[in-house]
Amino acid sequence: MTSASITQRRFDGRVAAVTGAASGIGRATALRLAAEGAHVVVIDRAAEDAERTTTAIRTSGGSAETVVVDLGDDAAVSAAGTSLATRHARLHALANCAGVVHVDGSQENPFLERGLTGWDLVMGVNVRGLAGLVLAVAPALVAARGAVVNVSSEAAYRARAGRWIYDASKAAVVSVTRSMAAAFAPDGVRVVGVAPGGTITEMHLQDHADPEAARERMRHGANGNLLNRLAEPEEIAAAITFALSDDASFITGTTLAVDGGGAASR
Ligand SMILES: NC(=O)c1ccc[n+]([C@@H]2O[C@H](COP(=O)([O-])OP(=O)(O)OC[C@H]3O[C@@H](n4cnc5c(N)ncnc54)[C@H](O)[C@@H]3O)[C@@H](O)[C@H]2O)c1
Repeated sequence: MTSASITQRRFDGRVAAVTGAASGIGRATALRLAAEGAHVVVIDRAAEDAERTTTAIRTSGGSAETVVVDLGDDAAVSAAGTSLATRHARLHALANCAGVVHVDGSQENPFLERGLTGWDLVMGVNVRGLAGLVLAVAPALVAARGAVVNVSSEAAYRARAGRWIYDASKAAVVSVTRSMAAAFAPDGVRVVGVAPGGTITEMHLQDHADPEAARERMRHGANGNLLNRLAEPEEIAAAITFALSDDASFITGTTLAVDGGGAASR
């Protein structure tokens, strides 16, 4: 679904922040939220690509600003979050999409061979950075009685020696989502997890010599799910936007599988 074909305006007059918004699922989520009326805070460490998302939103008539921050840097996350919550006293939606899987350029970092290599990087961004940002913007989320989506992965439930740290980080996101939901519930803030299955983004394409050929294979090829293909980023963004919207007003603490039936078929 293109943003031009979005007719719902569930975020008119609202402020939404999206991490990882320079690329893939985060970028698609930022565009979708903007198409539904939100002012979007585009957060990423990749300054140029983040600005590209912001420009795309403005070009199609939406409203956005860029915040460049490395989610692996505690002090920078705290400063960026505090500043965001000062500029926007009410934050209605926060989508935590940023994530890292590559360590030293490789997704495969087998437990027995590579040990703890990459632990601090992957856990630091995928879990600690996510939690640090939520903490820093908490006052603005509470003021808006807003919602948070934490992007986990089907990887949270898999047994893979090669990606054990990434998989553990995504399992931690499922757990953290439950705990945050409990912490925020008295203030009317919902916290929901979204666990995508394989999705055609940079994360998947960057390891292929011919990304366009790989993209075509992923659109039609087996992925061990019922639909027999990988997702487009817009399909995950649609679920994230739903979870952030008032349409999901009774959903909190759980993680929704958006995986083409991957979990159902395993
Ligand atoms: N693509 C998939 O198949 C898939 C499947 C399940 C879950 N996920 C999850 O979805 C989320 C988005 O993934 P994607 O596929 O869109 O990946 P992507 O690589 O296209 O985008 C990730 C974004 O996060 C940003 N980022 C990474 N480290 C950062 C840091 N330290 N500080 C700030 N920003 C940082 C990157 O710059 C990038 O813009 C991730 O959390 C990923 O784990 C992806």
